[in-house]
Amino acid sequence: MSLFLCPICGSTLTPDARTWRCEGSQTAAKTVHTFDVAKQGYVNLLPVNQKKSKAPGDSEASIQARQRFLAAGFYAPLKQALVKIVTELTKNKGNINWLDIGCGEGYYSQALASSNLNQLIAADISKPALVELAKKSKAAGQLWYQQKEGKKAAIVPMVASAAHLPIKTNSLFGISSIFSPILPKPFFEVLESGGYLLIAKPDQGHLASVRQALFDDVREHDSDKFLQELAPYFELIDRVEVETTLNLSQNELTDLLTMTPYSYRAKLANREALLNSALKSSFKTQARFVIFVLQKRT
Ligand SMILES: C[S@@+](CC[C@H](N)C(=O)[O-])C[C@H]1O[C@@H](n2cnc3c(N)ncnc32)[C@H](O)[C@@H]1O
Ligand SMILES: [Zn+2]
Repeated sequence: MSLFLCPICGSTLTPDARTWRCEGSQTAAKTVHTFDVAKQGYVNLLPVNQKKSKAPGDSEASIQARQRFLAAGFYAPLKQALVKIVTELTKNKGNINWLDIGCGEGYYSQALASSNLNQLIAADISKPALVELAKKSKAAGQLWYQQKEGKKAAIVPMVASAAHLPIKTNSLFGISSIFSPILPKPFFEVLESGGYLLIAKPDQGHLASVRQALFDDVREHDSDKFLQELAPYFELIDRVEVETTLNLSQNELTDLLTMTPYSYRAKLANREALLNSALKSSFKTQARFVIFVLQKRT
């Protein structure tokens, strides 16, 4: 049984390697909507009227910078911590459907799919990010329509909005939102009873030396505010901290600044001074993350 819904009419949407097709709207005309799978392997389930801008999501430049930075392994400890949590939550369970919302280019999605999941829906509002994710997943043979009998790790890449998830209610075991939007009610609705929500965020002191160099007045990350909004829907069951030291070359530091929102707010002179300081010797900073593990309230 398909767990997908047509983003236009809300009827059941059936995946297919070429074209996804809905059952047809409830109107007398019974219009059927179709969504072609792009050659890279993703499907676009974001109707034009749900797009807030022409090219929603992160820019091409920040996507490329993040790809390089993550591929270099700087945030591997966070990836490993996420995989460990998902592996524990899914232990001795079968047929696990998981959503990675705001998945970006899929650095974490690909790792999560290799844990104990059957289907990893990788969704993001940004088409360029999904193109990268789909290309990498296809090359690794991880796409849902490439799956061989008995092999796990089926990734279903889709352009979709967190606010209008094209997914049936009570159908997912878990959702991860890694530095991505958190929408308590839509997440609550698509999760099955007792389903899990993992949220990864920067923690207090994340990249402190970078922010000290950029700003005269350093604001702390407010890690816990969103928990109040989640409280009516989810119970917090665990909080895992991850810390790692980064030694960055000037190019790596440039990528880090491009992929974070900091640099846009910083004075140009501060940014240049910071980058110059990484010319002779590597720049050292601490990355600090926190993963919140929440469970759907019954
Ligand atoms: C900071 S990035 C994190 C990407 C990825 N999880 C990672 O850590 O590498 C945030 C992502 O959320 C996506 N995003 C923003 N608003 C969204 C929405 N309403 N629905 C789905 N994705 C959204 C952006 O396009 C972007 O890829
Ligand atoms: Zn439809």
